[in-house]
Amino acid sequence: MSNIGGRKLDHIEICLSRFVEARVSPGFNDIYFIHSCIPELNLDEIDISTMFLGKRLEAPFIISGITGGHEKSRQINKVIAEVVGELGLGMGVGSQRAAIECPSLEYTYSVVREVAPSALIIANIGASQVVKGYGIKEIMRAIKMVDADAIAIHVNPLQESLQLEGEAQWKGFLSKLSDIVSNLEVPVIVKEVGCGISMEDARLLWDSGIRYVDIAGLGGTSWAAVEMYRAEKHGLEDLAAVARTFWDWGIPSAVSLVEVKLAAPELKVIGSGGVRSGIDAAKLLSLGADVVGLALPVLREAAKGRRALKKYLERLIKELKIAMFLIGAANLGELRKKQIIITGKTREWLEIRGVNVKKLCKIDRNMYEVYYHEENT
Ligand SMILES: Cc1cc2nc3c(=O)[nH]c(=O)nc-3n(C[C@H](O)[C@H](O)[C@H](O)COP(=O)(O)O)c2cc1C
Repeated sequence: MSNIGGRKLDHIEICLSRFVEARVSPGFNDIYFIHSCIPELNLDEIDISTMFLGKRLEAPFIISGITGGHEKSRQINKVIAEVVGELGLGMGVGSQRAAIECPSLEYTYSVVREVAPSALIIANIGASQVVKGYGIKEIMRAIKMVDADAIAIHVNPLQESLQLEGEAQWKGFLSKLSDIVSNLEVPVIVKEVGCGISMEDARLLWDSGIRYVDIAGLGGTSWAAVEMYRAEKHGLEDLAAVARTFWDWGIPSAVSLVEVKLAAPELKVIGSGGVRSGIDAAKLLSLGADVVGLALPVLREAAKGRRALKKYLERLIKELKIAMFLIGAANLGELRKKQIIITGKTREWLEIRGVNVKKLCKIDRNMYEVYYHEENT
């Protein structure tokens, strides 16, 4: 087993056995829909299908990149791919660095394409590898390994700062990213892993040619928590103490989504970070996410097996449809037109950032650009 494979296995074991989630909310509890007691719809006619990255999804869910690089990861990837294929969803694989450095591990990732030949699949590498010299050649290898529809480059500066083997050298990333985007025909997604993306960074990413982001905001899996347990396991109490301090660091998911849509209204966005129910998903979709991503609960169900994972995802789909039924939204476009109520800390944060929250609650959030222009002229 490569060292990277061992590290990824540590992550899986910690995520399966410990409490690793942020103790602050992703902000979904601050958002309310207006319930309708006379929706004028039939529940079984609600259409949640959508197109994303050139593929049709039966429901707007993407399993965020989790794993690869070890036999146990292959099993998890296989279970996820089977269910994703069956339900017509999309999925990412975990960082492919392990297989780029040790090709004998490729099978732990490529299994997803074998099992789900027509599903939306997203390849994955880390920003720190890009900074250290991964270019088009390595990226194409990652894409080909899983015959991917897109590649996610994960940006995880917090985790790199806290990891035993961390590589927190970030200088020069944007210009390398921009070179990659302009020389690659496959879409590039910039993906956080649990701290969210700000308005300022979304604008920089847009200017570098990025058209897709996965916000992975604060409120779900905390990488500081995961790295804290790893540091403890290795007897590194000082590092564990620093990691503990950053447990709840980041931009809550609901806030991050609005920030990136306001900064670059045409960005395609995967809303994620702490999504745990179909209502959470409905809220991110309503705020303007194109699709919704989730990792931790999927990992936990996939570890139990295919039936458990399928049951869980079917539950999410059902909850999303019921939420839409109860506000009279027949499809995702209509969901984004419905009035929402943003309260509490999410409202405070957005107001401090200059957002006219009252107006945002009422506008058609299919059209952030209209809001953007009205607020900026
Ligand atoms: C065990 C585990 C491993 C992960 N590995 C990766 C990875 O290799 N690459 C990546 O981009 N994100 C990785 N993530 C982050 C997820 O894709 C996701 O962005 C994050 O967990 C937030 O979503 P959640 O709150 O639903 O878990 C991993 C998450 C988990 C739980």
